Amino acid sequence: MAEELLPEDPEAEAEAEEEPIKQRKNGLYPGVSDELAESMRSGWADTDLHGLEPVEQAAETAARRAALSARFPGERLVIPAGNLRTRSNDTEYAFRASTEYAYLTGDQTQDGVLVLEPREAGHDATIYLLPRSNRANGEFWLDGQGELWVGRRHSLAEAEQLLGIPAKDVREVAAALAEATGPVRVVRGHDASIEAALTDKVTAEHDDELRVHLSEARAVKDAFEIRELQKAVDSTVRGFEDVVKVLDKAEATSERYIEGTFFLRARVEGNTVGYGSICAAGPHATTLHWVRNDGAVRSGELLLLDAGVETHTLYTADVTRTLPVSGRYSEIQRKIYDAVYESQEAGIAAVRPGAKYRDFHHAAQHVLAEKLVEWGLLEGPVEKVLDLGLQRRWTLHGTGHMLGLDVHDCAAARREVYADGTLEAGMCLTVEPGLYFQADDLTVPEEYRGIGVRIEDDILVTEDGNRNLSAGLPRQADEVEAWMAALKS
Ligand code: GLY
Ligand code: MN
Ligand code: MN
Repeated sequence: MAEELLPEDPEAEAEAEEEPIKQRKNGLYPGVSDELAESMRSGWADTDLHGLEPVEQAAETAARRAALSARFPGERLVIPAGNLRTRSNDTEYAFRASTEYAYLTGDQTQDGVLVLEPREAGHDATIYLLPRSNRANGEFWLDGQGELWVGRRHSLAEAEQLLGIPAKDVREVAAALAEATGPVRVVRGHDASIEAALTDKVTAEHDDELRVHLSEARAVKDAFEIRELQKAVDSTVRGFEDVVKVLDKAEATSERYIEGTFFLRARVEGNTVGYGSICAAGPHATTLHWVRNDGAVRSGELLLLDAGVETHTLYTADVTRTLPVSGRYSEIQRKIYDAVYESQEAGIAAVRPGAKYRDFHHAAQHVLAEKLVEWGLLEGPVEKVLDLGLQRRWTLHGTGHMLGLDVHDCAAARREVYADGTLEAGMCLTVEPGLYFQADDLTVPEEYRGIGVRIEDDILVTEDGNRNLSAGLPRQADEVEAWMAALKS
């Protein structure tokens, strides 16, 4: 990998603002002759794009901005995409635009900033982006963010056509915000330079109201979002099929083979994975966030695979299947699996418009508590077990969460509209009960130890009940075995 030619010296950077890059040659860019600089300035074709169609979700993002505008009349609203984060030296982590910015613009450009400027009625939106690289001053090949290094960007005119939002040069935004007067709110945590420009103008409390509003606004998905979620799930289904086909290779190597196999599907069909894939074989299945994925995969044990493809527009699936590596569940594995399946069935049945959000959790937990009492692991009655929460030693986590642009979507929503709220058509949530018997749990018979089972599906609340978006993957144990046999043959 080549290194950039620009210096890191801040004084030199400041100078760079003022002068054409080639003129900063004295000692800074050894090896750039006048002749080379001249050569790089010219001889490039005009590649401007004209008549671009708006992105598919342009109407939806406009409606979302209008809803935001109505909630905060008379206030300037600033929503940054975020910046690249250094991995080491001059290499960076893959960029992922902030959820709020992607939701309101449909754009995913690093350093982008959406500003809603208050007017007498409503707001005017402006998106601030880095324009195409300047070729006359050498920026396009001498700057680390020059297009020659990182690829072609859209011009501001192209961005306007695509997003339906007037676009300006992002290098102007900090000064414009610093100068502006009047009430302002910013979505924090994404862009320190934007927050610095607004210091003394914003308060954490007001900013939080903006973040909370945007989290709650995302609870009910529009038609575009539902299509994207289904796309994410469909790719995820194919990713699970890929994994089943290569279980023998995973046995010969490690859980990493499973992670890599799923990742390939995610990268080819979508943007990436929506979260670190949990590829937990054997007793690793009892570790809820097992993402090291460096363990052995053994015939006779279970594989708990919790993975989701994120689409190009950043919507993610979140699906778990617990599969017998050999293709057949053992008796004890099947007993535990069937209990979780029954619990999930009860949970899914409780998802409908008008139900309390917590209903599906209670329905699923009730079944698991019944099973634990039936198996003699807990002393009844079941209601007492549930009152004391004793089942939680083995059920460990909540039964689900909202799903969307974030895997744990709407996380900043107020309790009264989320956990204590009511389900509405258009909400999408996971239903994912599990039972986990740690390998060192001396309170259960030995045969249970080291077994973890979770089944997780992505459920859309519909007008008359629900739709399982991930029904393309079997859940019932016989059907799982038949599906695996068909894929392996
Ligand atoms: N994969 C994270 C979760 O299931 O919530
Ligand atoms: Mn999951
Ligand atoms: Mn989940």
